[in-house]
Order: sequence, then structure tokens, then C-alpha cells
Amino acid sequence: MTCTEAPTAISVDFRPLLPTDHDVLLEAILANLSWYVDLFHTEGVAFGHHLASYADLEPQNGDFGILAHLADHWVGVTWLRFFSSADHGYAYVADDVPELGVCVRKAARRQGLGRELLTRSLSVAAAGGLRGVSLCIHRDNVARRLCDEMGFTEYSRTDGRITMLAGRDALESAAASRSLSHIM
Ligand SMILES: CC(C)(COP(=O)(O)OP(=O)(O)OC[C@H]1O[C@@H](n2cnc3c(N)ncnc32)[C@H](O)[C@@H]1OP(=O)(O)O)[C@@H](O)C(=O)NCCC(=O)NCCS
Repeated sequence: MTCTEAPTAISVDFRPLLPTDHDVLLEAILANLSWYVDLFHTEGVAFGHHLASYADLEPQNGDFGILAHLADHWVGVTWLRFFSSADHGYAYVADDVPELGVCVRKAARRQGLGRELLTRSLSVAAAGGLRGVSLCIHRDNVARRLCDEMGFTEYSRTDGRITMLAGRDALESAAASRSLSHIM
């Protein structure tokens, strides 16, 4: 499914993320790393393992994501991975709550794409009956404002790392705002 519509200032196509987009995810994860420089230095080895597993999308386990692209070039991506208590990323809340990652290429930022990708992702989560979606964000990351706006609230905090959770209400609200934007 490819869908073009532009509630954003930038006009892009959207499609579901595929396991074959592994390299896109690695690139996105590396681009996001700047917020985790401290972690990278203090927990280097463990972070390496988490990095690798974040990029392994397993649709058979419910993982999903959305890719925003211009022709063959990706400009933004969200991905949601389910983990277990035994082996998880930095935003683990529960086995049935996927961890979300989001990245928009620098040149495409501040044009509404991040908000659009999050809204779409939370809408898919709502439609799938999920009870929540979590993410990990550094306390100084300006994207915190966007997370607050999307209905994520602080779930736990470890040093500079904040785990945020969007509950059922936030998912439904994203889905409702999306149906509204389709009508208008
Ligand atoms: C977070 C990110 C995805 C936002 O993408 P984006 O396309 O720039 O986001 P939007 O244009 O939709 O901005 C939405 C809101 O986020 C906030 N925001 C985003 N970037 C900001 C910045 N540099 N400074 C201040 N506020 C910012 C603002 O509230 C903004 O709303 P506004 O433009 O109406 O003021 C992008 O900055 C990114 O890829 N960052 C690196 C990865 C990351 O930090 N991920 C989050 C942790 S998982």
C-alpha cells in the first residue's frame, strides 16, 4: 500500500515498513544515536546488542512500521518492535507494548513529518487493539514536546533516559485526529 497525502509541509509517499528495510533502520538508529552519546560510552556493549535487535523487524510477532519516502529515498521512518522481559530495548514496559522508534532525516525536519508518522503509527496501534506504545527519549531531546503532544507520559526514568508510554486514550486520540484529517 502506498499512500500520498500531505497534511505535512513536505509531500512524501508512505508505505508499510518491511523486514527488507533493515538497512534503513540501521541508518535511522545511527542517526538517532547522537542523543545517546553518554549511554554509548557507558554501556557500549549492551547498546550494541540492543541496536541490532531494534533493526530486526519481525512482522510475524506483530512488529510494524511506516516508511516515508521520496521515490527511492527514505525521509522518515517509525518502527514498533515487541520485546520480552528477558530481552528488550530501552523502553520496555510489557511484552504486549511495542517500543517505538522514530527518525526524520535532518533536511526534512520541522515540516510536520515526525508528527504525521507518529499519528499514523499510533492509529495503526489503535486499530490493532494495542493497549499502549512506549518509547525511550533523552531528557534533553527537543522531541519531548512532540511526545507530550502525542499523549506520551513519563513511565520511568533512568539517569537521562526517559521511558514514555502512550496508553489506549492516546492511541484512540491519534486515530480520531487521523479520521478528521481525512474528512477535511
Ligand atoms: C523527533 C523527530 C522525529 C521530529 O521530526 P520532525 O519531522 O522534525 O517533527 P515535526 O516537524 O512533526 O515537529 C513536531 C513538533 O516537535 C517539536 N520539535 C521537533 N523538532 C524540534 C526542534 N528542533 N526544536 C523544538 N521543537 C521541536 C515541536 O513541538 C514541533 O511542533 P512545531 O513544529 O509545530 O513547533 C526528528 O527531530 C528526529 O528524527 N530526531 C532524531 C530522532 C529522535 O530524537 N527520536 C525521538 C526518540 S525515539
